[in-house]
Amino acid sequence: MIIDGKKIAQDLRERLKKEINQLSASSIKPGLAVILIGDDPASHIYVKNKEKYAKEIGINSKVLRFDTSIQEKNLIKEIHQLNNDKTFHGILVQLPLPSHINPKKIISEIIPAKDVDGFHPINVGNLSSGNESLVPCTPYGCYLLLKEIIPNFSGMHAVIIGRSNINGKPMAQLLLKEDCTVTITHSKTKNLKEICLTADILIAAAGKAKMVKADWVQKDCVVIDVGINRIEENGNKKIVGDVDFENIKEKVKAITPVPGGVGPMTISCLLNNTLTAYKKIVSN
Ligand code: GUN
Repeated sequence: MIIDGKKIAQDLRERLKKEINQLSASSIKPGLAVILIGDDPASHIYVKNKEKYAKEIGINSKVLRFDTSIQEKNLIKEIHQLNNDKTFHGILVQLPLPSHINPKKIISEIIPAKDVDGFHPINVGNLSSGNESLVPCTPYGCYLLLKEIIPNFSGMHAVIIGRSNINGKPMAQLLLKEDCTVTITHSKTKNLKEICLTADILIAAAGKAKMVKADWVQKDCVVIDVGINRIEENGNKKIVGDVDFENIKEKVKAITPVPGGVGPMTISCLLNNTLTAYKKIVSN
């Protein structure tokens, strides 16, 4: 079975749109501010999509663009202004940042209540303690896709390839909360193939094109492919995941395609987080 991330993401946006439409006409609209620095083409595409879908469901979205030369202290000033701006309930700083700016410092300047990426140490700590928190969008999207296929995760073995703060680590926390047995693997892991063969759930986020082969997975496995790799094949440029999709899709219980799997979910989860942040802020 191929998991249709595009459709599931669209359904989520429809639900969010309905909820936003039902807010009283006199109340302030949910607002999302995105900070984009420099001219990385991939970042520009992501941000354009975030803006487009936010507007489509009734979120007031603003992109603040800065030149690569912006100083760290000026960027922090911009963040402090957004922290105090009542019209914005979500703040996102698009990564990667230029090398003279420390992303950890920048992320920690966003107030946790508006940290719709879920990267602030307070949100990271709350997620790992099982407290209410804003959850990073990519793993949250993976989690919602898994929920479509698996009604009860209890006792399942989830194997995660990749230990990043953006995906691997928060993914592990979400699955632990659901009583999975979780193994986080990474570039130094020995016997990776053998470990993957014991997975009921496999999350591939290594950043290596088609790394997971058909003989790495067992037939009941549900495979979530987080990879976005631009490659050239037979003279054609294309985007592929971290999983050898064509050779695995018939073998496993379910799998996400690339594109059209996790990618669309990430943006819908960002909009979901913006509405969650909004509701919490306006009710306080
Ligand atoms: N760049 C790539 N993925 C992400 C993400 O999830 N959030 C932000 N802020 N930047 C990114």
